[in-house]
Amino acid sequence: MTGSGLPALLLTGGTGQVGRALLEAPPKGFEVVAPSRADLDLADPAALEGWVASRPWAAVVNAGAWTAVDAAESSAPEAWAANARGPAALAKASAAAAIPMVHLSTDYVFDGGSDRPYLEDDPVGPVSVYGASKAAGELAVAALNPRHVILRTAWVFSPWGTNFVRTMLRLGETREALSVVADQRGCPTSALDIAAAVGAACRRLAGPDPSPSGVFHFVNGGETTWFGLASRVFERAAASGRKVPALTPIASSDWPTPVRRPANSRLDTARFTGTFGLSPRPWTEAADEVVDRLLRPADEERAGA
Ligand SMILES: NC(=O)c1ccc[n+]([C@@H]2O[C@H](COP(=O)([O-])OP(=O)(O)OC[C@H]3O[C@@H](n4cnc5c(N)ncnc54)[C@H](OP(=O)(O)O)[C@@H]3O)[C@@H](O)[C@H]2O)c1
Repeated sequence: MTGSGLPALLLTGGTGQVGRALLEAPPKGFEVVAPSRADLDLADPAALEGWVASRPWAAVVNAGAWTAVDAAESSAPEAWAANARGPAALAKASAAAAIPMVHLSTDYVFDGGSDRPYLEDDPVGPVSVYGASKAAGELAVAALNPRHVILRTAWVFSPWGTNFVRTMLRLGETREALSVVADQRGCPTSALDIAAAVGAACRRLAGPDPSPSGVFHFVNGGETTWFGLASRVFERAAASGRKVPALTPIASSDWPTPVRRPANSRLDTARFTGTFGLSPRPWTEAADEVVDRLLRPADEERAGA
């Protein structure tokens, strides 16, 4: 228990998309404590141990990570520190204190070559430093804390930070035309919905019943391409009277990046829904909600209207 009288979750990555969603809407029945990165650096095992041991946390939620996929190729030590060694230290410290752990992970642990949505037990095969470091983080968490939920997600968007939906709206303000990749398939997922999924996992892990441990996939329902997501964003923007650019579908080969993006990022969520009783809503609904929020005048947004 902490000041609020509620059991507390120790959150890393409180300034990130998922972290901000958890702080804006704390899981029912919990208080969320999110030390700043200066206080709790995933690259500093002593700080992690100190924070985990400081209170009887109901769960540790690791939403912090090195998420800059391309930059990780030239910053492998930093990416591995945040994505593999940090989670390992968190898992070890939380297990020592009998505290369960929820750890966020990614579709980048797969190579993207499958022709169907990935299942949790499909073999991983990362093709990037980011993916390899996240896969190593998963292994460490699973090995070091028996009470864990590893939540893989993909294509995250939110009202905050750097994400595709915000980038589209920003570019749309000045560009007459945009070209968007149309040959990668995935499930766009709102950080607000991931926060609800994290909450469901925390309730089970911290509750009285024997709790499930393992890897779970959580993404919004349905699937599309980046072009499909951009189209939806601009349909919604146009409906609220915004000027929108003309969109052209292009191939990944026309948009080279240092890391090859997975052609297939789709994740099957049946295990998550069957275990936690929460069905993800369609990505279209989740995307509309975030677009509406981003287009709302700043003063209304600040007032929480
Ligand atoms: N974004 C996606 O599309 C996506 C897709 C699949 C899975 N995921 C996974 O979902 C989780 C959350 O992603 P997100 O989109 O919310 O990430 P994000 O917005 O990029 O935020 C990352 C967070 O991690 C923190 N962080 C980075 N390095 C750190 C370190 N060494 N020590 C402590 N904190 C550190 C950042 O702090 P600063 O603000 O100080 O930098 C920030 O709070 C991650 O595990 C990510 O791998 C994301």
